[in-house]
Amino acid sequence: MKRTAIGSCLLLSLAACGSDNTNATTTTTAPTVTAPVTGAYDSALAFDKTKYTTINVTIDGVKTPVRWYKEVCYVGKPIAMAASQTSLTGAATTITNTACGYQSMNIFVPESVASNQDTAIYFAVNNGGWFASYIKASVTDGATFDSSASNVGAALKAGYVYIDVATRGRGLVAADGSYAGKAPAAIVDAKAAVRYLRLNDSAMPGNANHIVVNGTSGGGGLSSALGASGNSTDYLSYLKDIGAAGVTADGSSIIKDDVLAINAYCPITDLGNADLAYEWVYNILGTRQTVGSYPNPTGSAELMAKFVGYQAGLGLKNADGMALTATTMLVAIKAEVIRSAEIYLASGGTIPNLGENISYTAGGFGAPTTTRTYVNDWIAIDNATKKVTSLDMEKYLKFVATQATLKNTPAFDQTGLSITASSGESNMFGTDKQVYSNFTEYSWDHNDVAGDGIGYADTGYSWTQFSALSTSPQLKQVKLINPMAYIGTGATTAPYWYVRHGTRDRDTAFTVSINLSRALAADAKVQDLNYRLAWNQPHAGNYDVPEAMAWIAATLKAATAKGL
Ligand code: DHB
Repeated sequence: MKRTAIGSCLLLSLAACGSDNTNATTTTTAPTVTAPVTGAYDSALAFDKTKYTTINVTIDGVKTPVRWYKEVCYVGKPIAMAASQTSLTGAATTITNTACGYQSMNIFVPESVASNQDTAIYFAVNNGGWFASYIKASVTDGATFDSSASNVGAALKAGYVYIDVATRGRGLVAADGSYAGKAPAAIVDAKAAVRYLRLNDSAMPGNANHIVVNGTSGGGGLSSALGASGNSTDYLSYLKDIGAAGVTADGSSIIKDDVLAINAYCPITDLGNADLAYEWVYNILGTRQTVGSYPNPTGSAELMAKFVGYQAGLGLKNADGMALTATTMLVAIKAEVIRSAEIYLASGGTIPNLGENISYTAGGFGAPTTTRTYVNDWIAIDNATKKVTSLDMEKYLKFVATQATLKNTPAFDQTGLSITASSGESNMFGTDKQVYSNFTEYSWDHNDVAGDGIGYADTGYSWTQFSALSTSPQLKQVKLINPMAYIGTGATTAPYWYVRHGTRDRDTAFTVSINLSRALAADAKVQDLNYRLAWNQPHAGNYDVPEAMAWIAATLKAATAKGL
């Protein structure tokens, strides 16, 4: 059901609204008429229903016309960007839409639902690597989709409005040379896009109260943070800065930015603690040492030791009611891997016996895929009962770390340490004048790059001292992109979640998605949590299109039945 963003009473002064005006002829002064309460940029953000081109795609052999609303800028004050940007791979790219190319949406409406205001909105975020995601078009004229393999084709076939949402993110350089994508920019932009859809709900096809967010990896992290933090006032000042819909001139909000459902894959999230978790998982059973990927043993020891207190502090519980601590975590991971294997077996999949080859595609997110094999020395199956009879965690983690090389130590907050930065998110933090900043205690205190303005040696402050300064943005940045900081709070956390994390994913610790799932399970606002480690999947997403789409369809039905 459509709802108007603001009640008609607000168009008049409160005194006039609903008052008995029968004495109007005897009053000497005219009733006060005040300006309607609107967001400062709302009139500039009105959706133009006529501004589309029709493209044709073929889905499962059926020609399907689609209306394409191209590069719709969803903010009133977009940040002008430099024409030359660096992509995730490190290659330079030249962008054409410098005015709003990182704060726009490509909106694709199947012609069959052009007048349907109840259909769902499939909101896809594309910030791989937590990098800025320039506006892209997943639907192009003449494209062919197989709806059993393509989430884009399946969403269009289901009659959803499909939207590619661009956002700022790390690495982004503004026209004035500042770094415009520092945290929480990606979340703020995604919220601004949701607000645009709510503002224009009655003019647009689709139901802005039925937004389903889809994202993988950095996008899974973004989806989770967006889903967790609905309507939180923490983001309002940032939303005001970019002229988001429904933010008034005085900075208050008259539009909501919560969403209905999250479909997240391998979320790279809880970045403030991701280094601790990574070292704990890959050292607790000696995996780094076993596979010879052990670049910083003292760092590993220091980080994994901190994991214990962090994990206990989350106060989470397993499904059986047992506290989820560092003591019970290996058992919890093992139970999830076994559950994943048994669901796979029950669906008709086969798992090789001990001593036989497990084949897998190496590569993962965005990387070329090649098929490789590994002699199964870690999981035993009874194929008659389709049950796992034993699982050796030490050998399992060795398998994971063999089929994909482990990240460095630390895994995420890497820059500024003499250890080679092979990936890492440090450039998402700090001020917009800093290329990067460390954002965790370990990396700040071990920063050994002289002259980068970061770390103890350059600032004279330890992390504890520095992060406590009111001028230090890092802790706030870490919080604002972390779903764990919002689940179970007063935020309007999305009621429906589908989260997958591959059993072979070495990009972030398994504890990250397990903790996310347990926090969601404990939140009374969450109506349905469909969480699983995905059998034999690497760091990847959208590999389970029929299952995910069936869940989305069931979710929409359930939400409608509940009046959501
Ligand atoms: C992604 C992968 C990573 O290893 C990471 O640290 C952040 C993001 C990604 O694939 O999006």
